[in-house]
Amino acid sequence: ELDARLNMLTDLSGKVAIVTAGPTYEAIDPVRFIGDHSSGLMGIELANALASRGAKTVLVLGPTSLKIPPGIELVCVTTAIEMYEAVKERFISTDIAVMAAAVADYRPLNRASNKIKKTQTELSITLTKNPDILQFCGEHKTINQLVVGFALETDNEEGNAKEKMHRKNADMIVLNSLNTPQAGFGTLTNKLTIFEQSGIVHDVPLD
Ligand code: C5P
Repeated sequence: ELDARLNMLTDLSGKVAIVTAGPTYEAIDPVRFIGDHSSGLMGIELANALASRGAKTVLVLGPTSLKIPPGIELVCVTTAIEMYEAVKERFISTDIAVMAAAVADYRPLNRASNKIKKTQTELSITLTKNPDILQFCGEHKTINQLVVGFALETDNEEGNAKEKMHRKNADMIVLNSLNTPQAGFGTLTNKLTIFEQSGIVHDVPLD
């Protein structure tokens, strides 16, 4: 019986997992950046869960102040391009890819080499699109690789989440609820809905 329980805890042994987590910071000048409120907690917890089930787990982590549990290989990155490169390099040898990072969709086209002075009344910064890491995984995955994406939507939550899963060719998409108290950014509890390509839907209640 103990054997059965130990087996259950190591059901992912021999598998390699990669998880992205946290925000990315896109430099405007040497002191300023574009970022978001992601804490990285969801991805860190997922990496921990994968590792404790026996998967060799790599966590590609954007800037965060959270501590990383032992047993996880940590790759610290700052920008979306760095995160993309880190995943791209490792994806081919990965069985499970979980893209939980809140990647900045755009970055400043040019990073000012000096701190921008407040001389102008209006200031425009031209942004350019970042590579989509989940899309890359979806496009390159083989039948044996599992790719999981996340969605955080403010309107038409279910429709947008499913559309994202199909467009990016993810096997599953996890929809975060922003409309529930105690769920969303920086909370220790969350409420999720998981959509699978097969049409199966899992409701994960607030916990
Ligand atoms: O399109 P949207 O950004 O809402 O998609 C969210 C999902 O795509 C998340 O899984 C996120 O980690 C991933 N993503 C990514 N690279 C980007 C943008 C989003 O991997 N540049």
